[in-house]
Amino acid sequence: TNRVFSGAQPSGNMHLGNYLGAFRNWVRLQDSYECIYCVVDMHAITVWQDPAALKDQVREAAAAYLASGVDPKKSILFNQSRVPGHAELAWIFNCVARIGWLNRMTQFKDKAGKNRENASTGLFVYPNLMAADILLYKATHVPVGEDQKQHLELTRDIAQKFNNDYGIELFPLTEPIIQAEGARIMSLRDGTKKMSKSDPSEFSRINLNDDADTLAQKIRKAKTDAELLPPKADMLEGRPEAQNLVGIYAALTDMSRDAVCAQYEGKGFGDFKKALTEVVVTNLAPITEEMARLQKDPAYIDSLLKEGGEKAQALSAPILADVKKAVGFLS
Ligand code: TYM
Repeated sequence: TNRVFSGAQPSGNMHLGNYLGAFRNWVRLQDSYECIYCVVDMHAITVWQDPAALKDQVREAAAAYLASGVDPKKSILFNQSRVPGHAELAWIFNCVARIGWLNRMTQFKDKAGKNRENASTGLFVYPNLMAADILLYKATHVPVGEDQKQHLELTRDIAQKFNNDYGIELFPLTEPIIQAEGARIMSLRDGTKKMSKSDPSEFSRINLNDDADTLAQKIRKAKTDAELLPPKADMLEGRPEAQNLVGIYAALTDMSRDAVCAQYEGKGFGDFKKALTEVVVTNLAPITEEMARLQKDPAYIDSLLKEGGEKAQALSAPILADVKKAVGFLS
């Protein structure tokens, strides 16, 4: 069977990168796979989250999934901490994964920064929890942005080592699903840095709850260069900000970058940004509106997450029981 699992951290500021790299593709998979979409609150607390804010951030993330088109009638939608199996399996994986494997994780190095001694131990073992999220349901496919690729390779290594160590073909080797366009949206202020929830500059990021005026202002102020758009996308080499804006346009319109360049060949970024603003506003306005509508009814979101949690619990329980049996735990 084919089963999809994916998730995003509820750390506020859901942005265009999350939408193009993840949510939009989650929606497209709902008709051909059994899909499980999780708000990973346990991952979020690897860095400090204010408890009162966290609750709203979980609802905001769920609203972003729903507004993007995740359908709770087709897919399971829940928050991670509701299903205790995530933590239980993560512990077992803490004992399967090797310190050397985790030492190679570039996201830990980025997030821990210079003051590594002061990072939480949760941040270090974060990829083991992510592997547990996926394998608790024996998910076969995981749609993500480019930045999660290394974590998915680790997930395969953990699955393989578990299967070898315990002599049982329990876990599948999960495949990533990474779209060609939109998998790596960059900061509007620096085309070499990815767009991220934690960038201190609001102008680096297009948030899913930005209104049209804010979107227009952010795109107008986005860093670019003085050159014109070339006829072909490969001629944008060495112009990371220009590449990023053309890439966003291409992803939102489902055009190739070459087609976008051909359409705006010879135009400057003043003109191109106006066209891009229109495309961004047209695509995001319905999502922004729906998110705002949903967030006015937290009780509805909470009830959906609870219902989804019950389904996730039911799916995961027999798999976790098999794992515990393989490990040799008495039950
Ligand atoms: P997170 O919360 O950082 O991001 C959620 C999803 O959005 C994608 N993404 C991007 N895509 C394109 N351009 C960007 N600038 C950009 N920024 C983020 C991410 O690749 C991701 O798909 N560890 C994960 C959450 C997670 C998870 C899982 C994912 C926990 N368990 C199990 C899949 C399966 C994370 O921090 O994503």
